[in-house]
Amino acid sequence: MLQSSIFALCHVTVFFLHLCEAEDFKWTDDHHSSFYYSTFPTGFLWGVGNSAYQTEGAWNKDGKGLSIWDAFTHKKGKVYMNETGDSACESYYKIKDDIALLNELKVNQYRFSISWPRILPTGIKYHVNEKGIEYYNNLINTLLKNNITPVVTLYYWDLPQVLQEKYGGWQNISMVMYFNDYANLCFERFGDRVKYWITFNDPWSIAVLGYETGEHAPGMKLPGYGAYKAAHHIIKAHAKVWHSYNNLWRSKQKGMVGISLTSNWGEPVDITDQKDIDASERYMQFYTGWFANPIFKGDYPGIMKDYIGKKSAQQGLSSSRLPTFSTQEKTYIKGTTDFLGIGHYTARYVTHKIYPLSQGKYHTDHDVMEFVDPQWPNSGSDWLYAVPWGLRRLLNFIKTHYSNPIIHMTENGVAEKLHCAELCDEWRIEYHKSYINEMLKAIKDGVNVKSYTAWSLLDKFEWDEGFSERFGLYYVDFKTKNRPRYPKASVQYYKKVISANGFPSKKEVESWHRKSIETCSTANQLLAADPLTTHMEMVTEIVIPTVCTLCILLSAVLLMFLLRRHS
Ligand code: NOJ
Repeated sequence: MLQSSIFALCHVTVFFLHLCEAEDFKWTDDHHSSFYYSTFPTGFLWGVGNSAYQTEGAWNKDGKGLSIWDAFTHKKGKVYMNETGDSACESYYKIKDDIALLNELKVNQYRFSISWPRILPTGIKYHVNEKGIEYYNNLINTLLKNNITPVVTLYYWDLPQVLQEKYGGWQNISMVMYFNDYANLCFERFGDRVKYWITFNDPWSIAVLGYETGEHAPGMKLPGYGAYKAAHHIIKAHAKVWHSYNNLWRSKQKGMVGISLTSNWGEPVDITDQKDIDASERYMQFYTGWFANPIFKGDYPGIMKDYIGKKSAQQGLSSSRLPTFSTQEKTYIKGTTDFLGIGHYTARYVTHKIYPLSQGKYHTDHDVMEFVDPQWPNSGSDWLYAVPWGLRRLLNFIKTHYSNPIIHMTENGVAEKLHCAELCDEWRIEYHKSYINEMLKAIKDGVNVKSYTAWSLLDKFEWDEGFSERFGLYYVDFKTKNRPRYPKASVQYYKKVISANGFPSKKEVESWHRKSIETCSTANQLLAADPLTTHMEMVTEIVIPTVCTLCILLSAVLLMFLLRRHS
């Protein structure tokens, strides 16, 4: 945390220096801030999301196996305050409650993930945990009964620990086969009802944070190699699963299989400087293109191949640190997605910078330096600044580079600034409102966006940040055993956007804002009453049983005493 704050501070300082040099750079051109009143195309889908490890809890219940996140969080010093997802939001026990929240929001779709070790405790297909299957069947069936479409992610970072220990996880090519077996089991058991499948969520984080910097599970620090190797296997695994669905299940089940990439937007610091424009292109290709290029075009972006190849040679290596696809593999991988999922949170300004060779790692291979504008609103996450216009640029980048694919916005959201209960989250309303509006502008530009998923339904376990960052539309009281949920003002606001399918008029949109803030103060009172609930729980769960036990003991002693005196 400290490290990243210093990093952010340095960015800001360097950025100010740069500002002095580029006096005529315009920060906030008018097209950035103007609001566009209009509605989304008919049939546009609205949703909200969550993931298994972040919310389910029940980490060792009903036959579930360990995941790399269970193992990682149980080691000291890996997560803020050594917190774990052992109980998280207890969502494993709260299907009905959570679906009631979805009904309140009136979303048409719910994005959740299946925990691989919950249904295959050792990761491999020979031992299926029927209790795990039953849980997801129950969830899917209840969603459908409530007319909510399930959007299911197969891999949301929780690899079975056995596969990590035996093979080194995504460093090993055998994961392609194991992941394919697991995916086929999901298609077999749930595919009659699930029509939207996402193979991987945010492979960038899996590779870079899991195998390059080690900030995330499995915590491997392999700078310069780890991320590229993990990504290589992930891309192959994605393609294999898409082909399996295509060949074995599609004709019967008629669903779609895609991948969800999370990406920042990288804006050139000086849009008139070709070096900065090139730096922006490299930033985007190393982020989004790394995965999108092979999937849409069959191979890694040329820029990645050139830069990593050149750097590897300068380091005296006989081959590039970036693995290569064979001609056959390129053909096999190309075109393996029915839609592209996009997760997006923030942006950076970027410029050209040459790093010393000794730093041969992912973050420096592209010769790009990132900055933030100190005027951008920050959030509860030190990396997340609200830069809504970045989303429109990103979506247009995808349209141009990958022949205008079908896009589903699979994640977009922001975390609380405060750690205490903040139900009147006016700034979250502002965040979603402006990002959704930029998405609407992108649709006007001709980008093929079909749905929007707000991230996330609940406050939840935020990976290495533990529970310190709250992304939820619903506040979760983690101090109380059954994890009660309380609506934040953004629930009321998002509901209105959904029911109007966009932003019909200034007058209406402004009234939503007012009403949302009014209702959150009532909810705040509920939360204020919460210590009372906790107190009541303590009375019923601890005090009463203790007093009763003491009374029984005392009566027994008294009885014995009387009996002795009689005899
Ligand atoms: C993206 C991750 O996919 C998600 O799990 C996380 O909650 C958000 N980033 C916010 O950090």
